[in-house]
Amino acid sequence: MSEKVYGIDMGTNSIKISQKNAGVVLHQKNMIAMIRRNEPLALGDEAYAMYEKAPKNIDVKKPVVNGVIADFSAMQTMIQLYFKGFKGKKMPENLTAGSNSEFIIAVPTDITEVEKRAFFDVIASSSLKTKKIRIVEKPIADAIGAGLDVMNATGRLVVNIGADTTEISLISLGGIVQSRLLKVGGTKFDESIQQAVKKKHNLVIGMKSAERLKMNLASGIKEEAETTFDVMGRNLITGLPSRVTVTNHLIFDAMSESLSSIIDSIRFILEKTPPELSMDIMHEGICMTGGSTYIKNLDLLIQQETGLSIMKMEDPELTVAKGLCMIMENPEYDRMAYNFQESSFH
Ligand SMILES: Nc1ncnc2c1ncn2[C@@H]1O[C@H](COP(=O)(O)OP(=O)(O)OP(=O)(O)O)[C@@H](O)[C@H]1O
Ligand SMILES: [Mg+2]
Repeated sequence: MSEKVYGIDMGTNSIKISQKNAGVVLHQKNMIAMIRRNEPLALGDEAYAMYEKAPKNIDVKKPVVNGVIADFSAMQTMIQLYFKGFKGKKMPENLTAGSNSEFIIAVPTDITEVEKRAFFDVIASSSLKTKKIRIVEKPIADAIGAGLDVMNATGRLVVNIGADTTEISLISLGGIVQSRLLKVGGTKFDESIQQAVKKKHNLVIGMKSAERLKMNLASGIKEEAETTFDVMGRNLITGLPSRVTVTNHLIFDAMSESLSSIIDSIRFILEKTPPELSMDIMHEGICMTGGSTYIKNLDLLIQQETGLSIMKMEDPELTVAKGLCMIMENPEYDRMAYNFQESSFH
């Protein structure tokens, strides 16, 4: 059987799987729907379609919370099904794991060893056959995927604003000098929007509607002109379904506290940056990645608040997955992936 090498980025919002010489082969919501307690019913985007709509006997689970594995068994079941097939059929991505297969898993830096180990064990203790499982620090994969030359002595600052987390990392000579994982990101924005709509309009909306408002109205900088978007929900007073028109100004106010905490943390890392690396950052600026960097003017906000130039990515939610591909394909990056001691499961 030919060698198959896979890279996995288990994000809070979505799972991305890349394959050596094939690119990013899977990008699905990181969710699994279970029926009758523990029988898998749907995976990924299909499970997400059931989220907030399912009856009590269907449980839609998010295995990764705040960037770490919160439901080990759900995460493992999901990955096994993606590789082995589901409901008697192979998945369309045609992922296969055999005794020749290798896995490289991206893990956040600023988490505990036990939390890191869970990312390794999810594959190591699974029913998938593997030859080798290795770990890569997520910010390193992110920077490589963003096209930065991480191996030289130039300092780079990468800010990945994802779903549950923002990871701010200072990289030099292929290693991480500083990294901070904040529990703030797209999900926090959605929750704040949900609360603001409830307070202002007496309307209870779901997380999907809150996300839609964010995607249509959010901006990193307060806009003078008013724009609006309609949303449906349940009126708190009448209890009936109702529609309201939400403004960009309400969304901006709702998100401002979370945005401030991201700025504060970037400043905190900058303050702790050794002077020689600070000079590099002054030159190179900040590289912004993660799905939440789609938010309009977020780059402008960070630029204004830090005085640094900003580099934005195309497909910012896929930089880690693309970086994993480059690590699998370029021998010069091979040392970025390291072994985790074999699990006690084996
Ligand atoms: N056009 C958009 N405007 C605003 N936010 C967006 C847009 N597109 C995606 N997002 C947000 O990006 C987030 C998902 O990004 P990403 O895939 O990088 O997260 P993740 O890797 O799953 O999470 P994490 O890295 O925090 O574990 C979601 O919160 C989503 O709402
Ligand atoms: Mg991510």
